[in-house]
This record gives sequence, structure tokens and C-alpha cells, in this order.
Amino acid sequence: MQSFIEGMPKAELHVHLEGTLEPEHIFELAQRNGLKLEYASPSEIVAAYDFHDLPSFLNIYYAAMSVLVTEQDFYELAYKYFQRAVQDNIVYAEPFFDPQAHTCRGVQFSTIINGIYRAQVDAEQNLGIKSQLIMCFLRDESLESAEAHFEMCLPHINKIVGVGLDSDEKDNPPEKFAPVFLKAREHGLKLTMHCDVNQKDIVGHLWQCVNDIQVDRIDHGINALEDSTLCDEIVKRGLGLTICPVSNQFVVQSLTASEIHEMLQLGIKATVNSDDPSYFRAYLNDNFLALQKEGAFSKEEITQLCRNAFEIAWVDDAQKNAYLNTLDNYLQDTLRAVY
Ligand code: ADE
Ligand code: ZN
Repeated sequence: MQSFIEGMPKAELHVHLEGTLEPEHIFELAQRNGLKLEYASPSEIVAAYDFHDLPSFLNIYYAAMSVLVTEQDFYELAYKYFQRAVQDNIVYAEPFFDPQAHTCRGVQFSTIINGIYRAQVDAEQNLGIKSQLIMCFLRDESLESAEAHFEMCLPHINKIVGVGLDSDEKDNPPEKFAPVFLKAREHGLKLTMHCDVNQKDIVGHLWQCVNDIQVDRIDHGINALEDSTLCDEIVKRGLGLTICPVSNQFVVQSLTASEIHEMLQLGIKATVNSDDPSYFRAYLNDNFLALQKEGAFSKEEITQLCRNAFEIAWVDDAQKNAYLNTLDNYLQDTLRAVY
């Protein structure tokens, strides 16, 4: 089962590039940019990772990313993720980035996006991994700030495929950002929003995503299971959910395996993702392996989770079919090896 999971071609649709910043890289960048760190070694940084809910994670996440300053820093951040992703047989990724968390420190929007874009181009050429970028707005910032960043993105609009919404969800509902998401849709972008596990008013937030914002995907979304009418609507619209098992474990002390089983049974297009793999110490294969251990998923269910990711990826039908064929070929090859 382990090699079956590890070898399977995969898409990753919920990974924050800033959440892939490894402690060794934090150290290296701090030194290069002349910034002082509170920690004496990368292992001291890891020892300080003490998350039990969303805000306790976000505090550390935003503090650490302040070492990202130059275009080269953003290039390296993204390129290192792609190098790590191909080890897990990820063939396609739609990573997030959080521009507001950098512009607030004086970093230019173009510095961030040009560095990431260059890494995407090089990673496709050198590593064979394709990717499309999603720009997230920080929901604990104002609508005006989100709109200003959307304006900054306009000269680079061809470098992103969609917009998302992340950061602290408490009292920051989807509807707060309806105008900027509407604008993004008018520019042909796809829409997704975080509905993190067990947040205040979460079922209401999910309904706002589905009915008011009319998102194309939902990030996390575990709590949809609390409302059968909502589940019916999610199935009817074929809405994909990007679930992050190890990330969930920090909040609900479970990899949410039983919820993922239930979603597959209902026909919800659930997928498995790593979220912030450097902080949660688990990249995509680690998430699948931990999930399988907790939930005893069959090969068919693991395959369905991977198939769902290609099906809900924001690529055209030809590209989607090519990925699904790659997956089918892998399954045929592994079956042939067994019999
Ligand atoms: N930013 C980075 N990771 C996040 C998460 N899991 N939820 C909300 N905002 C985030
Ligand atoms: Zn996330």
C-alpha cells in the first residue's frame, strides 16, 4: 500500500507556498538579508512550532515569512517546493501565495509574483511539474486592502489562475469579500475560499461560499457534513473540497479519516493536500500515508481521492484527460505487477 500511494501520480491543490518555507531556508535567508532571528538553529525553530488552533499557527507562519525579501527569495521558496513535490510524484500543483503578508513589510507585489513565476517556468522545464498560481486575500485584513492588491495584480493577471481567501476566519465571513471576488470572476479567474475546520459560524460560511460567492472550489470544508442539504448542493454542483488531513489534526486531533470516508460515500469530490507542509512536518505523501493508517482506506478510495484532484483542477479538458490517462496507466501497470 505504501509504494502504491507513493508512486501514484498526483495533483496538489491546497498548499501555501509560504507554508513550505523550511527552517533551514529561514535561517539561510535571514543571514543573507541581514535579519536577526530569535533562534540559534533550524532545530530550535522547529521546537517552537506549537500549534493548537488556527491563530496559534498563523502567528508563527507570518513571523517566519518576514525573511522573504528579494525576488530571488521568492524564486527559491517556490522552486524548493516544486523540487520536493516531484519526489511525491506530484505532476501538477495549484499553490497559493499571500501577497499582503509581504507588501505590508515593504516588498513590491511584482517582486513576489515575478520570483514565483520564474520558478514555475523553470520547474516545468527542469522538473516536468506544471503549476498555476492562486492569489489569496487575507480575510483578517480589510476588503479595501484586498481590492488594492487585486489592482496590483492586474498587470500580472496572466500569472494567476484564481483567487482564494485564507488567514483568520473568526468573524471574517466570505461575504465580507464578495465585491473583490465578483471582480475576479469578471476577469475570468476561478474562485476558492478557505472554510477551515471547526471555525465559528462555519456552516454559514460554507453556505455563503456556495450560494453568495458561488465559488468553484472550497478549501477544507470538513464541516459541510453537518448539513445534509449543503452536502446535496455540493454534490449537485460537483464542487471540489481540498482537505488537509495533517493540518486538521492540529485543530481537531484527528486526520478526519471518517469524514473523508463519508464524503467519498456521498460522492463529494474530496481531495488530499498538505496545506503548510513545512510547519505541519508532512508533505503530500505523508498526508496520504497517515490518513490511510488512521482510516484503512482501500486502494480504490485512495485512487478516487487522487482522481478527484485531477477532475477538479483548473485545467482544460485535454490536460485533464491527459492526467487521468496517466493515472489509469499507473493503475494498470501496478495491477500487472501484482498478477
Ligand atoms: N494560511 C496558511 N495556512 C492556512 C490555513 N490552513 N488556514 C487559513 N489560513 C492559512
Ligand atoms: Zn490552507
